[in-house]
Amino acid sequence: SQVKLNPLIKMHKDACDFYHHVLLTTRAGERGMKYARERELSDEILEHFQIGYAPKQDNLLLTYLHDKGYEDDELAKSGLFVESQDGCLFDRFRDRLMFPLGNESGQIIGFSGRRISQDKTEAKYMNSPETEIFTKSKVLFHFAEAKKAARSEGHLILYEGYMDVISAYKAGVHSGIASMGTSLTDQQVYMLRRITPNIIINYDGDDPGVHAEERAAHMFEKVGGFNLGIVVLPEKLDPDEYVKKYGAEKYRDEVKGALSPTDFFLKRLAQKYNLSNDRERITYLSEAVKEIAHLSNPVEQDIYLEKVAKQEGVSKDSLKVNLMRERRRQN
Ligand code: GTP
Ligand code: MN
Ligand code: MN
Ligand code: MN
Ligand code: MN
Repeated sequence: SQVKLNPLIKMHKDACDFYHHVLLTTRAGERGMKYARERELSDEILEHFQIGYAPKQDNLLLTYLHDKGYEDDELAKSGLFVESQDGCLFDRFRDRLMFPLGNESGQIIGFSGRRISQDKTEAKYMNSPETEIFTKSKVLFHFAEAKKAARSEGHLILYEGYMDVISAYKAGVHSGIASMGTSLTDQQVYMLRRITPNIIINYDGDDPGVHAEERAAHMFEKVGGFNLGIVVLPEKLDPDEYVKKYGAEKYRDEVKGALSPTDFFLKRLAQKYNLSNDRERITYLSEAVKEIAHLSNPVEQDIYLEKVAKQEGVSKDSLKVNLMRERRRQN
């Protein structure tokens, strides 16, 4: 039997071409282009990511798709329009820089639009609603492209934002993907697992970003079989800001210096205590040992016991005794 292409997928391809064309070649797109240049998006980048602009003017996409022969009932369920009470359709995305969102094979199934006006009462990003073809929890921005790059780069890198994926790409890291915001889903974890066990998490360096990294790391560990690296950028920067400030080469060094999950957790743990106070130091050490006790590989346990012992000026043997006790308790 023949597989019929969902008409909504064809429609999204047309919409993507429309937004892209508006951005690159029309008067209506000049506002979008000005913003794109402010964000240092080159023609090559606009092309690779098929970025576009949803114009401010009324209903240009609706008119365009009507002219292409799409019927109102199809248009209504695409998510590209909002419907008024009396059933009239209006373009959903207005005056936004448009990032197409693809499925696993790279077919466009939705959009996220970046607000370009200064009006902070409007959401910074607006996503397509859930439709027949668009399920937010299963989408990863740039996934189809990143899958290919993962073969040569040896890993996938998970970001918070679209602009982070794009700046990493400019910096020569082509295996970047992003979930829609910070909340990674189980489905996305399984999607990644099918591509590679080597995952690097590089969320924003601010508190919510690092907190989300911790949550993501736990999700990967729960599924298991991953080899995780975690990047924590300085000065609360996000990867886009970091690349702008420090350049491509330093950014790639940050990726190479990704922490193991245990290093990441121990570092986070240490920040919770005042380690010059003995009582707090003792609590820290017992929490650290608990963390290390989760590791199944005795060589790994040994490495981290050694590290913590050195750092805190205690003997590894005493930590080891506590570790054995902890493991008996856990079993
Ligand atoms: P820029 O300001 O354009 O650099 O965005 P950012 O990626 O740095 O945004 P931020 O770190 O605030 O948020 C990370 C991601 O969360 C974004 O890329 C979006 O996917 C999502 N996000 C941020 N703001 C909104 C919002 O207002 N609505 C929705 N639905 N998602 C958002
Ligand atoms: Mn490429
Ligand atoms: Mn953020
Ligand atoms: Mn950010
Ligand atoms: Mn940003």
